[in-house]
Amino acid sequence: MLEGLLVDLIPYGEKCRAQDHRWWNNESVFWSSMGERNIVSRAQVDREHGEWTESLDKAPESGVPFCAQTKDGKPLGYFGINWYSYHHRLANLGASLGEPEYWGGGYGTDALLLIVDYGFEWLDARKIWLGTMGLNQRVLRQMEKVGFTLEARHRAVALADGQWYDEMVYGLLRDEWPGRPAMVEKLGLKAR
Ligand SMILES: CC(C)(COP(=O)(O)OP(=O)(O)OC[C@H]1O[C@@H](n2cnc3c(N)ncnc32)[C@H](O)[C@@H]1OP(=O)(O)O)[C@@H](O)C(=O)NCCC(=O)NCCS
Repeated sequence: MLEGLLVDLIPYGEKCRAQDHRWWNNESVFWSSMGERNIVSRAQVDREHGEWTESLDKAPESGVPFCAQTKDGKPLGYFGINWYSYHHRLANLGASLGEPEYWGGGYGTDALLLIVDYGFEWLDARKIWLGTMGLNQRVLRQMEKVGFTLEARHRAVALADGQWYDEMVYGLLRDEWPGRPAMVEKLGLKAR
């Protein structure tokens, strides 16, 4: 378990998977998949869980998924390394808290510090990156706060509610990461 101040990250197992049908059909998908709004059946969720588990077993570079939960154990959503290249030591991050009432409360930033630290300290990543649509102000703010650099802007690739948005690509190099304790102090994060 990776222990934060507001959340802990545990392996993405049954606790979070049991929520996936609800999470994959709510507002969180619009933000995490850059504007898509799909209705996903339970059968699709089960099939994708099966394929996902199989791909993780076969190819560890396909990712390290974590379930973010509150300190009292309520599952909030996915936070993880979507894929990792051991050759390039390059990690791609993904995040989606499936409980909208928790957005904007600092849970995501706490989880982000944990996953970045995990990427650098455990996977020995040299670089961690993430892409999001320009409309996603919560992520843009998070990236800025945690010291990521905006490295690319893919123009007009995301269609969200009838409008085209750019994808913003952010990266953080290991040398730029002061470590989680220093970042907790810089941001003034506290347990509550
Ligand atoms: C993205 C996500 C993980 C962030 O977690 P979170 O707990 O909501 O984020 P935090 O509360 O830690 O930080 C969000 C920051 O954005 C700010 N923010 C929130 N709404 C904002 C808005 N409309 N405009 C500008 N800033 C905004 C918050 O004030 C906070 O900054 P602050 O700490 O300086 O006040 C979470 O919102 C989420 O899962 N959203 C849905 C799916 C998603 O967007 N996934 C990411 C795909 S790349």
